[in-house]
Amino acid sequence: MNQKFDPAWGSATLGVRAAEPRSAEREHSAAIHLTSSFVFDSAAQAAAVFAETEPGNIYSRFTNPTVAAFEQRLAALEGADACVATASGMSAILTLAMALLKAGDHIVAARTLFGSTINLFNNVLARFGVQTTFVEATDLDAWRGALRPETRLLFAETPNNPLTELVDIEALAQVAHGAGALLAIDNCFLTPALQQPLRLGADLVVHSATKYLDGQGRCVGGAVVGDARRVGKDVFGFMRTAGPCLSPFNAWVFLKGLETLGVRMRAHCRAAQQLAQWLRAHPAVARVHYPGLEDHPQHALARRQHLRLGKGEDTAFGGIVSFEVAGGRAEAWRVIDAVKMISITANLGDTRTTITHPASTTHGRIPAQARAEAGIGESLIRVAVGLEDAEDIIADLARGLGG
Ligand SMILES: Cc1ncc(COP(=O)(O)O)c(C=O)c1O
Repeated sequence: MNQKFDPAWGSATLGVRAAEPRSAEREHSAAIHLTSSFVFDSAAQAAAVFAETEPGNIYSRFTNPTVAAFEQRLAALEGADACVATASGMSAILTLAMALLKAGDHIVAARTLFGSTINLFNNVLARFGVQTTFVEATDLDAWRGALRPETRLLFAETPNNPLTELVDIEALAQVAHGAGALLAIDNCFLTPALQQPLRLGADLVVHSATKYLDGQGRCVGGAVVGDARRVGKDVFGFMRTAGPCLSPFNAWVFLKGLETLGVRMRAHCRAAQQLAQWLRAHPAVARVHYPGLEDHPQHALARRQHLRLGKGEDTAFGGIVSFEVAGGRAEAWRVIDAVKMISITANLGDTRTTITHPASTTHGRIPAQARAEAGIGESLIRVAVGLEDAEDIIADLARGLGG
């Protein structure tokens, strides 16, 4: 049984207290229900629960108390009615598409997205008759121009991976709704602690829980968040039948991760701002992509769209900083290979700072031309700032940048 909570509580309180599960044992920290199925007192009760005339858990593909607690807590943080947890961030996007689209439908998506998302749209959904048009993320006219009568979904990350470009969620929601389409936002980079897309007009939010929701780089998982009909019914119905479900163990890790989400995100942001400013002043760095820099093309939008670090504090700009060095792949790899503390790995949202070369890793499987058009050059490096001291992160990066 989950404890009652007030959806009007602040984000930090919801992260700790929303949907706190408590069994008959009265444990304080959430228990894990590591079971594939649930037992019934009688055949009649089994039939009633299956027929949904009596509430109860059936089978962990679609009903598990630990997974449900994570779903309810994430929904509370996003200000949503419903959430369906999935096996990964990619399966969240797949689940959303399979549950809400059909052959003949059309998607308009930002050109700059996580590489596998582009591949999912181009190589998987296209085989099932769902076509995607990719547009410049920041150009509202391009989004409008790509609309077709059969457009059902607009999809964007904001800030996006790896360039930290923003889309104006409010404006894009109007474009989507004017065309009878839905707007889905991948809220992976900021999390609900720093940005609440549904409150700005988006219809759906997807997450790679693998990233900041876990926060310590332990488990892979994801979620689709939204209203009671589309997510609570349609997405849930797809999950029940098709089964790309989250394991209860991973749900428990994410549930505990949400308890520290707000404090972690604030610390990531503060160190990222310090790093971005240092990089910007560095002579070996050609360009820095970070929404917290005043010369970021959407700095003003970030100030409007993102939440604050705290009451009366500055805007939160996120924990991801990308930068370009002079030269190409060889120069970028030299900077990466010089680090001694920072982890060379493609994950992000960890306590440990990570560094990657997007063009040859996270975006390596998308065609070179599409990558170039999206602005993901060979000299681009992405740093996901962890929770170490900012000075140590800077000192480690300084090695490859010549001090
Ligand atoms: C913005 C974004 N969305 C989705 C994903 C996919 O998540 P997962 O790796 O959990 O499948 C990633 C992974 O890096 C990501 O960066």
